[in-house]
Amino acid sequence: MSQGTTYNDKVIRQFAVMTVVWGIVGMLVGVFIAAQLIWPGLGWEIPWLSYGRLRPLHTNAVIFAFGGSALFATSYYCVQRTCHARLFSDGLASFTFWGWQAVIVGAAITLPLGLTMGKEYAELIWPLAVLVAVVWVSYAIVFFGTIVKRKVKHIYVANWFFGAFILTVAVLHIVNNLALPTGLTHSYPIYSGTVDAMVQWWYGHNAVGFFLTAGFLGMMYYFVPKQAGRPIYSYRLSIVHFWSLIAIYMWAGPHHLHYTALPDWVQTLGMIFSIMLLAPSWGGMINGIMTLSGAWHKLRTDPILRFMIVALSFYGMSTFEGPMMSIKTVNALSHYTDWTIGHVHAGALGWVAMISIGALYSLFPRLFGVERMYSIRLIEWHFWTSTIGTVLYIVAMWIAGVMQGLMWRTFNEDGTLTYTFVEVLQATYPYYYLRLLGGLVFLSGMFFMVYNVYKTWQMAPKRAEEVPVPEPTHA
Ligand code: HEM
Ligand code: HEM
Repeated sequence: MSQGTTYNDKVIRQFAVMTVVWGIVGMLVGVFIAAQLIWPGLGWEIPWLSYGRLRPLHTNAVIFAFGGSALFATSYYCVQRTCHARLFSDGLASFTFWGWQAVIVGAAITLPLGLTMGKEYAELIWPLAVLVAVVWVSYAIVFFGTIVKRKVKHIYVANWFFGAFILTVAVLHIVNNLALPTGLTHSYPIYSGTVDAMVQWWYGHNAVGFFLTAGFLGMMYYFVPKQAGRPIYSYRLSIVHFWSLIAIYMWAGPHHLHYTALPDWVQTLGMIFSIMLLAPSWGGMINGIMTLSGAWHKLRTDPILRFMIVALSFYGMSTFEGPMMSIKTVNALSHYTDWTIGHVHAGALGWVAMISIGALYSLFPRLFGVERMYSIRLIEWHFWTSTIGTVLYIVAMWIAGVMQGLMWRTFNEDGTLTYTFVEVLQATYPYYYLRLLGGLVFLSGMFFMVYNVYKTWQMAPKRAEEVPVPEPTHA
């Protein structure tokens, strides 16, 4: 069969396998830094094992290496299948794989060495940031090039979400990283003071909105209907969901800068847009969950579907919590506390990781040319470890966060603070243990996944048939 008549699944296989690998690495570092918060001596005073250097390694590994690889894999799969076309360019697609892995390895070397731009979620030094931009533009060419050569007139809604994610991340990354290099590993941002903070959180919040949300919604719109064997609940709602989500997200960044030097009206604007964001977010969640209407019984027997539906529930939970936390008076309590960390991981573990894991379990058998995963029982186990791990993590952080906020603002009659900082820290310890336990439970499930994927790969025929692209349809 000639190349043009089959799908390019090789690059998807590569990204899918690396998603599992980077997931384990990133979460392992997460567990390690969670332990460091309990036992600060755990770095043995080795600089590159210090908390300050490993924390950005964790965030970069889970967001960009784990989440990013999952997004590359699923978007390449979805765009080919829904467009009835092979990827625009095999060479460029392969470059995106190797280029992205090079970025990750670069990050894994430079961050522990303490080489950083100092901007959260945009820590990578300028040569790596340039490589990210080059890989990302190549990704855009492969993705949109495939859309252009599609043999199906219609562009399925999942591709709209993936497309918005790719375009927006390119703009965010390039604008936020504009800097003047002063050496190979050092540079100064072109912005200063409050403007720098505003650009950074315009980037930061939209990294959440587009990298951790829009892309994964694309994944949801393709894999939930596929796994449920039903069309999406409301196509009209998905279009409203898309346009309202991308229009509103852009404006919500200032909620990260409440009570700072940012003009007050900008903070209020950010708050209002954040509250409005509840509507499209829940529209999307409802659309995903209701896709199961008439097929609820499948939840009983299909742990993959359960992963996806629970992910959507966590998505709903974190997008309810976020708008609440953006209200200035609520933020006065939550900011600087572990409540934020709880919110982050409700989204990160509950939504991002669980929807990715569900999608991967749906994807691997197709990529290996086998009927189904080696063990459904192991997926079942993985589902429970992920769910219990997430709940332990976020409940611990919610209680710790609210407690910290309340203790910090308790005054004696003479106006002095009732609790010292150390007393607050001591009161937090039990919750740090609980969070560590949650992290370990979540991580343990990833090892079930490794074993299951390995055994499924062993079941694959020695030479997997390339999947033919269907004949053009005139729909
Ligand atoms: C085993 C699982 C995980 C554990 C144990 C874990 C643990 C941690 C810890 C201890 C922190 C630092 C908290 C602090 O500074 O007080 C953190 C931060 C963070 N983690 Fe995780 N994590 C895990 C999985 C993930 C995943 C899968 C994602 C994303 C997809 C993620 C995204 C983040 C982000 C964005 C932050 C920074 C939050 C902020 O600055 O407010 N984590 N994590
Ligand atoms: C309607 C949607 C959402 C809104 C309005 C929202 C709002 C907020 C607010 C107000 C904060 C606290 C800012 C602060 O006090 O510093 C925050 C932090 C954060 N949220 Fe959300 N959130 C939403 C959804 C999500 C989702 C789905 C995720 C993850 C997948 C997420 C990830 C994060 C992260 C990583 C931070 C920490 C940023 C940092 O300080 O490092 N959010 N969010």
